[in-house]
Parts: sequence; structure tokens; C-alpha cells
Amino acid sequence: MKNFISISDVADVQALIDKGLYYKKNPLVDQALGCGRRIGLLFLNPSMRTRISTQVAAQNLGMQAIVFNVGSEGWALEFEDGVVMDGASVEHIKDAAPVLGKYFDMLGLRTFPTLKNREEDYSERVIRQFVNYAGIPVVSLESATLHPLQSLADLITIAEIFSENRKPKVVLTWAPHIKPLPQCVANSFAQWMNGWGKAEFVVTHPEGYELDDTFTQRARITYNQSEALAGADFVYVKNWSSYTDYGKLHGEHRSWMITNAKLQVTNNAKVMHCLPVRRNLELSAEVLDGAHSIVTQQAGNRVWAAQAVLAEILRFNFKDSLVEGVKGGV
Ligand code: CP
Repeated sequence: MKNFISISDVADVQALIDKGLYYKKNPLVDQALGCGRRIGLLFLNPSMRTRISTQVAAQNLGMQAIVFNVGSEGWALEFEDGVVMDGASVEHIKDAAPVLGKYFDMLGLRTFPTLKNREEDYSERVIRQFVNYAGIPVVSLESATLHPLQSLADLITIAEIFSENRKPKVVLTWAPHIKPLPQCVANSFAQWMNGWGKAEFVVTHPEGYELDDTFTQRARITYNQSEALAGADFVYVKNWSSYTDYGKLHGEHRSWMITNAKLQVTNNAKVMHCLPVRRNLELSAEVLDGAHSIVTQQAGNRVWAAQAVLAEILRFNFKDSLVEGVKGGV
């Protein structure tokens, strides 16, 4: 894998899931793989799980990770081509990214969407420019439209838990929120569920919260939450703002919050959320504190998802310098 921006960069989703589960059992087995390599983790936006799990994953592979909070500590970057830089931005991405390419062997980047300009956000302009100008492999730590490391951890978690000889029913349900949030986690989860193809996948949300069908593809989509939940094995809870009326909220819909009562129609479903979560708004405390919740296991699996991805990037991009015995990839 050259870069990791979306599922399109992955040749074999199941093999990557298996690799993550293998690393969970054998965290330090590939310490030699990243020895002498350095990853820069750049954050234009806040993070806890992604930042720390990727650092742990890099260390498990023998790499050094350096975190740079560009959004709060760095120069304001310009991404527009051909502009006169007489505004707030101080440094152009064309100048900054190649410098980072000299300091690091690999770059991780977190950048949120504006939620103001759909075409610009959905063009993934920011992360694409890092790919174009850094000259080193780039890993998405969540971009304007996708969160692939989260999605891989989500699939690792489902695969780890579900052992029956049938497809699990997985429901992605919209949840209430007071702020407009990106569609990234929902888009990405839908994309990975479709790409994996080993689950019955249903998306449910109130009218006005339709996702881009590029990502939902052949998922069953319904406005009826209780009908969607019936027989579910996994319920993935997430808020997102409107895609069609871009970045807007369409009513509070507080009744969409998942409670223990709502879960009674499920197949004793496991409840997922990428975190952070607002208790008793997005998801009830009784669910988060109860036996249905697997959110901590899910967040813990972020390490193994990141480790599987970083290992594949190391093997692909630096194969000539790898010692014998660590070359085999998924
Ligand atoms: N789920 C997730 O990406 O968490 P952070 O924003 O804390 O990294």
C-alpha cells in the first residue's frame, strides 16, 4: 500500500483485518520493520484516540513518531493555488509539504471539512495536496470526507466479536447532536462495510440526512429506525450533518437517541460509537455503561488497525531496505 487515504488503497480488506487481529495477539512481532523510520503526525484538528493509537502502533513497529499540532501551533497554511497571500495564511502547502517530506519517512494527517463548501470538502483538496507535495507516503488520520483508520478498527471489532456462521446484521443509525458534524465516519463506515461485503448493512436516519450514495451504494436505507434495528447484531451510532443541505442541521430529532428499550428488538446487539460521544444526547448513558456497549474495545482496536496499515506502507514503500524475515505483507 503506497498511501492510506481510503479503502481504495487496500488490496484485500479481510487480510488487513486479519493482520490487525494478528498484531493484537503479537504486538511487538515486527519491531524490526520500522526501525530507523520516522512518522510525522500532523493535526489540523483535535484528537485523542487517533493521535495516541497511531503513536503506539508506530512504536510497536519500531518507528519514531513526532506529533505536530499544526492547527494550534503551526503557521496557517494556504491551499489555494495562484493566490496573493495577503490574508491570514502564512505558508503555502507547496512550500511546507516538501519540507516535511525531508524530515519524515511517512506523514499522517488529520484535517476536518469546512462544512461550508461541499465541492471543496468532497474534492479532499487538503489531504490530496499533502500527497502531491510531500513526496512521502501519507496516512489519513481523518480527512474531509473519510476516516479509514476508524473504519478498519470498526471492522476488526466486528470480526473479532462475531463468530456465527452467517452474515451479521449491522445497522448504522444517525444520532442527535447540537452541532453540525462531518459525514466522515458514516461515509467511511459505509464504504468499508460495502467493500468488506461480509455483513447485511442497513443505514437509518431522519429525512434530510441522506449520505452521498457513492459511499452507501447497495446498503438498505430507511427512515424507520425501529424497523432497521429489528434483529440487528451490531448498532453503530453516529451523528452527521446534512449532505444534501450541506453542513446544516435538520431538526433535533432527540427521539433518535439509542436506549436500552430501543435495543429490545435487536439480536442483543453490540453498540458501537467511534468516540468522543456526548452522553444522553448522542447515546444514552445506560447503553454506554451497560453490557451492549463495545465502545472501549472498539477504541482499543484503533492501535491494531493503525499498526496493520503502517506495516503495509513500510513493506510497500521501503521494501528494498527491509531485512529478510520482515518483508512478507498481507
Ligand atoms: N474516533 C476518533 O477519531 O477519536 P479522536 O478524534 O479522539 O481521534
